[in-house]
Amino acid sequence: MHKSVDPRVIIGPGDDAGVFRHKNTLLVETVDVITPIVDNPYTFGAICAANSVSDIFAMGGVPLTALAILGFASCDFGPSVIKELLNGAVDKLNEAGACLIGGHSIADNEIKLGFAITGVIDKKIILKAAGAKKGDMLILTKQIGTGILTSAVKLGKLKQTALKPVIKSMLMLNKVASRAAVLAGAKAATDVTGFGLLGHALNVAKSSKVNLVIHNDNVPFMNKMKDFIDLGIVQKGAKNSLDFVTRDVVFPKKFDYTDKMALVDPQTSGGLLVSLPPKGLKKFDLIMKKGGEPYWIMGEIVKGPGKIIIK
Ligand code: CO
Ligand code: CO
Repeated sequence: MHKSVDPRVIIGPGDDAGVFRHKNTLLVETVDVITPIVDNPYTFGAICAANSVSDIFAMGGVPLTALAILGFASCDFGPSVIKELLNGAVDKLNEAGACLIGGHSIADNEIKLGFAITGVIDKKIILKAAGAKKGDMLILTKQIGTGILTSAVKLGKLKQTALKPVIKSMLMLNKVASRAAVLAGAKAATDVTGFGLLGHALNVAKSSKVNLVIHNDNVPFMNKMKDFIDLGIVQKGAKNSLDFVTRDVVFPKKFDYTDKMALVDPQTSGGLLVSLPPKGLKKFDLIMKKGGEPYWIMGEIVKGPGKIIIK
């Protein structure tokens, strides 16, 4: 993507969000739009908002304002559905600390909802994709599997009720995780979204010029997700991601197609992947436990040219 040469651009395209200096303030800005992944409009609105603010949290920023982008066919959906969508979104944005201050809607034959989010950030604590250091631990704060499991429901292979823990995970903000990462002294983080765990991990590895070691047994996969990969439920995006990363990933010999696909499952409102100096673990643990949130230590950062080694 085009890189700006304006010195006020602190972080341009390629990270979770852009950072721009205006006088003494650093603005952090992002936008994300998704299509429905659950039936209930209120829940979808809330997931969508959590997904959009996530990029601000992945930078260590504080979200302040949101602009909605909404596409829908007015003949298919009445004002009550739209109202519910936005109610869910506004409640979640408020939980994140952001206010909805405007937006725009367009006619579209499929519902789309997203938010452009603006926040502020402190230069000293930016969690960059390029900040991972040799010796850091690799931590993930949500389980993997939202792409495959929501697809399984859409295809009628999994009951809507089985999606409850998946929805709970997607509704969870990365707010506590972001705070924990910043206060524990992390310098790098990203959120795991459309390119799956490997896609986003590889961006960190390449930007930071280090290798990421991931212990597959320590990756938190959601219940049953691998069964559905075995049944052939795989999104096109996942196949593309696997093609994209495969050159830079060393898989164990015993690894099969299912193992690989699980690692590239596109996530909606996924967790933070944090590169944490080991001396920060105690503090990180304390803040996450206090917030009642889980995390998994999946691997470590080692010297290398920007690859991922799965063990
Ligand atoms: Co991101
Ligand atoms: Co994004």
